[in-house]
Amino acid sequence: MGKSYRIAVIPGDGIGPEIVSQALRVLDRVAATYGHDFEYKELLAGGCAIDATGEALPEATVAECRTSDAVLLGAVGGEKWDHLPGEQRPEMALLGLRSRLGLYANLRPAFLFKQLCAACPLKPEIIGEGLDLLVVRELTGGIYFGPRGRRATAERGQEAFDTEVYSEAEVERIARVAFEIASGRRRRVTNVDKANVLESSRLWRAVVTRVAADYPEVELNHMYVDNAAMQLVRNPQQFDVILTTNMFGDILSDEASMITGSIGMLPSASLGQGNFGLYEPVHGSAPDLAGQDRANPIATVLSAAMMLRYSFGLTQEAEAIASAVEQVLAAGYRTGDIMSPGQTLVGTGQMGQLICEQITKGA
Ligand code: IPM
Ligand code: MG
Repeated sequence: MGKSYRIAVIPGDGIGPEIVSQALRVLDRVAATYGHDFEYKELLAGGCAIDATGEALPEATVAECRTSDAVLLGAVGGEKWDHLPGEQRPEMALLGLRSRLGLYANLRPAFLFKQLCAACPLKPEIIGEGLDLLVVRELTGGIYFGPRGRRATAERGQEAFDTEVYSEAEVERIARVAFEIASGRRRRVTNVDKANVLESSRLWRAVVTRVAADYPEVELNHMYVDNAAMQLVRNPQQFDVILTTNMFGDILSDEASMITGSIGMLPSASLGQGNFGLYEPVHGSAPDLAGQDRANPIATVLSAAMMLRYSFGLTQEAEAIASAVEQVLAAGYRTGDIMSPGQTLVGTGQMGQLICEQITKGA
């Protein structure tokens, strides 16, 4: 009999509950097939938490996450809560979880399944053999968490400001994550910053360069963020690990995700010290698709696979999920976002079911 794991589950808003329930179904199939025990505790965060408790991130949710082995999250937010002032918005639940749980390292792998080449918006001669890169995004610092505010001025009316702040220690720990991971991949780190303009980027770049000296087997190059945005669509194959700040990582990971066919395919892991982590799809709550059985659950299913790998060390089981997804795609099944002519359109639930069946077949 395998070990027992406690998983905090935060379905959230919009399509969150539908995609999370497919990921849990896949986890249950893994548990049954490989003899593990996953215990789920469902928690409130985001817009649904605002409706139920008045707060986007109830204390009870943070406390439960802290006593769990890992957190699986769907998505938060929606038009219904868009009128709320900044600090009361559903998104604050995400930022609060990341910072209060100390999850400073956000791993966002962009991988193009060869079955999805037709859904990739780049020309075949650009995408070539495919795409396999990892964005390592700093997640608890930078402009997301620096001082912000508004002030009235005499001559210019209202002024608003957000501040990009990074300390050496913050840069060093995320740089180490990037170099460690690159050591086990194609051994190339591209540091992305805006050191030609921003002082915070100049410190960032200096620290990254210093850390690189401890990893002589990994090649480091630097790129300004505007150039990186262009290179991602001009020649994405040059990238292995992209190391970058909170905001640049937010932007570039959406861009990278589109190259993989759909943002509905991209998982993420947010890690801190130790094995604990929070796992969530890169996409948002897509309220326009909610409740229609149309959302692609694959990003969340693959996030669950990352949880097995990074938090539980269940490599074989993580690979079983990834290969089940690949088999289902190879058999021609597609949700609407990755649909192309000649394939079979399926809904959220059927996609989850097909992945489960493949896990059983593959075991
Ligand atoms: C993401 C999202 C979040 C972010 C939002 C919802 C706060 O875009 O996880 O990429 O900006 O980090
Ligand atoms: Mg984003």
